Amino acid sequence: MASFHLFFACLITCPMFLFTFPCAAANQKVTLSVYYDSLNTSCATFIVKNLARIFEDDLMTILNLRLVPWGEAYANKSNNSTAICQHKPDGCKLNSLEACAIDVMHDVNKHFALIYCIEFLAIEGRHNEWETCFSSLGLPKNTTLDCYNSSNATKLEQNYGNETMHLNPPLQFVPWLVLNNQPIGNDYENFTGYVCKAYKGKIAPMACQSVHLKQKKTTDK
Ligand SMILES: *[C@@H]1O[C@H](CO)[C@@H](O)[C@H](O)[C@H]1NC(C)=O
Ligand SMILES: *[C@@H]1O[C@H](CO)[C@@H](O)[C@H](O)[C@H]1NC(C)=O
Ligand SMILES: *[C@@H]1O[C@H](CO)[C@@H](O)[C@H](O)[C@H]1NC(C)=O
Ligand SMILES: *[C@@H]1O[C@H](CO)[C@@H](O)[C@H](O)[C@H]1NC(C)=O
Ligand SMILES: *[C@@H]1O[C@H](CO)[C@@H](O)[C@H](O)[C@H]1NC(C)=O
Ligand SMILES: *[C@@H]1O[C@H](CO)[C@@H](O)[C@H](O)[C@H]1NC(C)=O
Ligand SMILES: *[C@@H]1O[C@H](CO)[C@@H](O)[C@H](O)[C@H]1NC(C)=O
Ligand SMILES: *[C@@H]1O[C@H](CO)[C@@H](O)[C@H](O)[C@H]1NC(C)=O
Ligand SMILES: *[C@@H]1O[C@H](CO)[C@@H](O)[C@H](O)[C@H]1NC(C)=O
Repeated sequence: MASFHLFFACLITCPMFLFTFPCAAANQKVTLSVYYDSLNTSCATFIVKNLARIFEDDLMTILNLRLVPWGEAYANKSNNSTAICQHKPDGCKLNSLEACAIDVMHDVNKHFALIYCIEFLAIEGRHNEWETCFSSLGLPKNTTLDCYNSSNATKLEQNYGNETMHLNPPLQFVPWLVLNNQPIGNDYENFTGYVCKAYKGKIAPMACQSVHLKQKKTTDK
């Protein structure tokens, strides 16, 4: 796994490493929103094992990835809509921290690297060591913690909570993936195929060509 951290560290520090796919028409990008809870094992596993792959191939060239760290928490209306989480209070804290990471580091390569690192620790039951992720990846701890310790964190979570609770059709479990406003449901681990299908651009990225091959092989059998 150390190699994976290295991979992200490289992704952050050497943008040249990124696939410079002939600018997949930006307006045809597919929007994938991932509604998740930072300390839910299904979510952590999905992020580390499945979602991280989009940074290894060229799927990101057609994808607008949105991470929504709230999950199945609900807002306590009688306490200024404060979140009540599945895994309180740690889950709420890490959801807020990840919300701040997204807000402070707009670059998806950066905030995903941090979230990946925290979720990797969560799988190992070491989520308390989240602060080490900043130094191991060389990401800005101060600005993220300033947000985390301020009312900005509350505000961000209130917005994510409101968005999650207004989903139509509503969220049924986590991780809950929504592709261009359509939920993927149970088959979320296979989101790549759905992304490729939803993409209407002319030049399919390589990641989609291999998906087609796989599907052909299985139908040929
Ligand atoms: C919601 O907030 C109120 C007061 O602000 C508190 O009494 C109540 O226990 C909270 N509910 C939960 C489930 O934490
Ligand atoms: C209300 O929410 C705050 C966090 O914003 C928390 O510190 C406090 O304990 C909550 N109050 C109650 C009564 O649950
Ligand atoms: C981060 O904050 C610490 C103390 O809170 C300070 O010593 C350090 O210089 C800050 N680093 C940056 C890069 O702002
Ligand atoms: C809070 O958010 C505002 C507006 O997005 C930003 O200007 C400010 O720097 C943030 N403050 C902290 C402490 O993150
Ligand atoms: C913010 O909160 C963290 C964790 O609770 C704490 O370690 C840190 O000192 C705080 N940072 C600032 C700048 O207040
Ligand atoms: C409720 O939360 C908002 C941030 O979303 C904050 O500005 C406001 O001060 C809070 N109100 C109370 C009573 O804590
Ligand atoms: C909550 O979300 C709904 C639907 O997305 C939106 O219309 C509404 O303005 C939001 N409310 C707040 C307080 O952000
Ligand atoms: C994660 O969420 C799913 C459903 O959304 C739930 O069935 C499962 O028990 C949760 N896992 C943990 C470890 O809380
Ligand atoms: C994902 O797709 C593969 C092959 O198409 C299938 O075998 C698998 O059951 C699917 N996974 C889920 C969770 O549906």
